[in-house]
Amino acid sequence: MQLRCFDTKCATKLDLHAPALACPTCGELLEVDMDFSAIDAPALKALWSERRKSRDVRDISGVWRYREFLPAYPANEIVSIGEGNTPLVRGRKTAEWAGVSDLQFKHLGWNPTGCFKDLGMTVGMTEAVHTGAKVVACASTGNTAASLAAYAARAGVIGRVYLPAGQVSLNKLAQALDFGAEVVEIEGSFDDALNTLLEKTNEGIYFLNSINPFRIEGQKTTMFELLDQLNWKAPDYLVVPGGNLGNSAAFAKAFDELLRFGFIDKLPRMIVVQAAGANPLAQLWRRGVDELIPVDEPETIATAIRIGNPRSWKKSLRGVRTTGGQVLDVTDEEISEAKAVIGRDGIGCEPASAATLAGLRKLRANNTIPSDASVVAILTGHALKDTNFIIRSHQREEAHAH
Ligand code: F0G
Repeated sequence: MQLRCFDTKCATKLDLHAPALACPTCGELLEVDMDFSAIDAPALKALWSERRKSRDVRDISGVWRYREFLPAYPANEIVSIGEGNTPLVRGRKTAEWAGVSDLQFKHLGWNPTGCFKDLGMTVGMTEAVHTGAKVVACASTGNTAASLAAYAARAGVIGRVYLPAGQVSLNKLAQALDFGAEVVEIEGSFDDALNTLLEKTNEGIYFLNSINPFRIEGQKTTMFELLDQLNWKAPDYLVVPGGNLGNSAAFAKAFDELLRFGFIDKLPRMIVVQAAGANPLAQLWRRGVDELIPVDEPETIATAIRIGNPRSWKKSLRGVRTTGGQVLDVTDEEISEAKAVIGRDGIGCEPASAATLAGLRKLRANNTIPSDASVVAILTGHALKDTNFIIRSHQREEAHAH
């Protein structure tokens, strides 16, 4: 197992545990290159089912259960807090609202810290500890910070989080503080916070943003667990919100591996949905030119995806293309409306996650997706992240009613 440059033309290879976040030859992102010589799909499907009865910490984790597709570590080094094992919930009012008959939500908000970041963090933190890190850090719009803080606390290392000042949900800030992280507030956006952090290469800090290929490996298992839940039959469409584009990049890697090794015989079309005020990939898609033009001042109520210069765009775009999917954007009004419908369906999520349902409705409205298609939408974060948003929108409703 090695690290390899994501650019197949460059194809630089590095030692798996090399302390690099980018290719030293061309600057492109790295990814984990598996040695898959011993993969036997039917045997692994049976083994993964069997592990659900086990009490081994690695088998209980919805990430490490699929460890044949992850870098290997001694069992006692694994930093896990029971991540994964999130439900598939059938959409009812939401399905009707979007105009599809077969809609399910994979709710990653039901992870230990309330969002999907835990799935990547368990692998990223394990790698950090394995390589002797003492200080780990990330820039964040909130969720990554809370997740890093929790896993750093479990691992007994210092967690430091760089947050755009005044733009992060207080609930997430509270979680980060509760878990004992050091909080650094940066004037500006998430992109500014990430740039500030990435300048600190000489300070012995281990970086845990999703440009870290080990985070991507953990997040990849979302698709293993989803397809396992669907008896290895892919839905027609998979809808995911896009911010820094790490999650869709991770799903793309999972699809490639699962198809290549015969776990599935068909890929879902991956639909990435961005917020209209933070939509560089959707703009690229519309222009049809493979050059990302960052959005200088990203703006959206969905603070989690308020990101103008997504780092993993090439990985994400490759996944959209190979699956025959597409990229679109939705307005803040559409996101708010979709979020309310998800709430009324008894599910609930944070605004960024609701972009999926808003996007789905839009694609149905212009008939891009047939009404009888099977659709899985990824809800990335918990309704309790952005409680201010909910209270404010209901105060507005009240004011209108009087
Ligand atoms: N949904 C939620 C709830 C998020 O927190 C994020 C990203 C995304 C979607 C977008 O995922 O970046 O992989 O495309 N949140 C980051 C953070 C950036 O700092 O918590 P992506």
